[in-house]
Amino acid sequence: MRSQNPSGPSNAASVIVVGVDARAMGQIRETLGTEAVLPTTPVSYDDALTAVRRQRPDVVITGFDGDPEEAVRLAPLILNEAGAKIHLVALSSGADPDRIRAAMRAGYREFVVLPADAELLRQAVHEATFSDGRDEDAGEVVAVWGSKGGVGTTFLATNLAGELSPVHRVCVVDLDFAMGDVAAFLDLTLPQSIADVFRNIGRLDERMLAGSVAVHGSKIHVLGQPVDLEQREEPRGDLVMRVVTAAARSYQYVVADCGSTLDEASVTAITVADHILLITTPDIPSVKDTWRRLQFIDKLGLEKERIRLVVNRWDKRTAQLSLDDIQQNLSRKVDITVADDRGALKAIAEGSLLREIDRKSEGARDIGRMVGLVTGEEIADESKPQGFMSRLFGR
Ligand SMILES: Nc1ncnc2c1ncn2[C@@H]1O[C@H](COP(=O)(O)OP(=O)(O)OP(=O)(O)O)[C@@H](O)[C@H]1O
Ligand SMILES: [Mg+2]
Repeated sequence: MRSQNPSGPSNAASVIVVGVDARAMGQIRETLGTEAVLPTTPVSYDDALTAVRRQRPDVVITGFDGDPEEAVRLAPLILNEAGAKIHLVALSSGADPDRIRAAMRAGYREFVVLPADAELLRQAVHEATFSDGRDEDAGEVVAVWGSKGGVGTTFLATNLAGELSPVHRVCVVDLDFAMGDVAAFLDLTLPQSIADVFRNIGRLDERMLAGSVAVHGSKIHVLGQPVDLEQREEPRGDLVMRVVTAAARSYQYVVADCGSTLDEASVTAITVADHILLITTPDIPSVKDTWRRLQFIDKLGLEKERIRLVVNRWDKRTAQLSLDDIQQNLSRKVDITVADDRGALKAIAEGSLLREIDRKSEGARDIGRMVGLVTGEEIADESKPQGFMSRLFGR
């Protein structure tokens, strides 16, 4: 248990409220009740840093309705002053996706719309009080995003997770709200779906997440979409963010199947992801759509270093475009190729990983190399001879 407010009661969080009007202040007070030690009045954006320095609060709630740019500018300054353990909460009267993304990028952990998200705010403040600072060890989020439909996004997301699962706790979160079929790929029946989690978002914690996932024989956990299309929920960015954040607290790797659409779910996932694996196939339509995705990621202001370009179904004898063509057209390197592998179809039909079908196949070997894209290990260059001597001497 942690309380940085020596003068206050140990079970109530110390909170500073920044840049909100009297009405919003009233809503916060009503929502938090005895959960928090609240100031009598909010502080201005200008005075926020001084207040943080003086009070060393557990939580800072910053209003986004007054001056969103100031609210965004403040976050890294507060984190720098108070350290990463402080909980930054963005408060807004509307769930505008651009605003949510700007807040998340700046370092806000929660984006709360009052009064609708009253329970979320209570929970965020409660967590701040009892947090053991574990967010610092939050898992890595890997967003797997297809340049277009059918390029192999789900196949690669599940099989990459299968490479990580022998040594790490891994959850695949199906964020393809249109066609998501991760559970079907692994032949799993879900106890609960992501739609159920959305409907009970106020109660989302590690326990609820653990009770919602299905577990594959390879130890991959899956939070999937409902099989029944009618039960699917809208991909709201703020809810996606909460689910991904909760998953990152429970797992060492969260692999998000973002499908190939550009909706609030995929955009939220790539915004918070540590690694974005952009999947393409070596043909003109797919590479064209990859280019558009890269432009979009650039416009969002995300660092290029987070992006990895994966050319799937690679077969140099039949590919419409060579790797050089692709690299020239996209003005960036291809990070890895995954061979076109006949075993893929069989693996999907059986609910298995490719590796379980044929461990020595070219595709399975390439997927094994993909691990390096997220762990930072050097990826073996298959064009170099990998004989006994070169392996021994690392040449
Ligand atoms: N490396 C590969 N070698 C051979 N076939 C592959 C490979 N990767 C994917 N496929 C095949 O491509 C098909 C589509 O794969 P998958 O469903 O993973 O794509 P997707 O991009 O997720 O599609 P969707 O847009 O429907 O979500 C599958 O039938 C799968 O067998
Ligand atoms: Mg898919």
